[in-house]
Amino acid sequence: AKLENATVESIAKYIQNNDVKNVIVMSGAGISTASGIPDFRSKKTGLYDNLQKFDLPYAEAIFDIDYFQERPEPFYALAKELYPGKYYPTKTHYFIRLLHEKNMLLRNFTQNIDTLERICGLDEDKIVEAHGSFATASCTECDQEADMENVKYQILRSHLPRCSACKGLIKPDITFFGENLPKRFFKRLSDFDEADLLIVIGTSLQVQPFAALIDNVPEYTPRLLINMDIAGVHHTPHHGFDFKWKYGKKRDALLLGDCDEGVEKLADLLGWKDELDRLYEK
Ligand code: OAD
Repeated sequence: AKLENATVESIAKYIQNNDVKNVIVMSGAGISTASGIPDFRSKKTGLYDNLQKFDLPYAEAIFDIDYFQERPEPFYALAKELYPGKYYPTKTHYFIRLLHEKNMLLRNFTQNIDTLERICGLDEDKIVEAHGSFATASCTECDQEADMENVKYQILRSHLPRCSACKGLIKPDITFFGENLPKRFFKRLSDFDEADLLIVIGTSLQVQPFAALIDNVPEYTPRLLINMDIAGVHHTPHHGFDFKWKYGKKRDALLLGDCDEGVEKLADLLGWKDELDRLYEK
């Protein structure tokens, strides 16, 4: 596709010249890679290229609910490796928080389950964990909510956590393939009608229904993608960015590269660089 895009500069001007106060940020695994957590689909470094030891029928099986019911061990081995607590938010997480402190953030829809949004101090009300998170867990048999101290204890010792009521298998409340997204995701979808700016950061936009949300903002709302590579174009032609002059107005901007550098650039253009650095360094 020939890309005739708006630029990060024009997005910064748009923010400065308009009363922007309903920014939606859609984020994915790319915003956490700088903290040491691998993403899913990057070649070589992504999780799905590094699951050989689990001997899976296909990579995504590790997050497939039917596979999990049969063979939960691979997921738990991975959960042990990735268990929240050892990783810290990145500059991009703090940029999202800074948007909130500027009273501009309507919502951060994140696909990430690492809880780094919470850890960086963003209000829970501002976060939609579209694929759930490790913050809670429940029994796959009786749905009883599990005691997280115990779940963590069992996972870190490579034991399968079991329900205290029925001995059923416990699963962290992250959304597996084959499961519904959390209620809160559907409840907050109406936010998109109000968005006056959409920033998409660190996601390949390959997983639905999340990816299609980029088309839920009003048709004149500018959209900025900050990502290592172009996402959402080839895979979802009908729902993707087209980056073309649209309705007589260029509304889509693309900032290719590392997202921490991308948000730094945007912060710099907005005169927020020092504030961002201060938040990040605290
Ligand atoms: P992906 O791994 O599919 O995509 C991550 C994107 O971030 C890729 O386009 C990378 O190029 C980009 N990226 C990586 N590091 C970056 C950096 N430092 N700066 C900028 N961009 C960077 O991850 P998601 O799109 O989040 O589902 O994946 C979506 C869902 O698929 C996940 O929520 C997960 C997975 O299966 C569940 O776990 C249920």
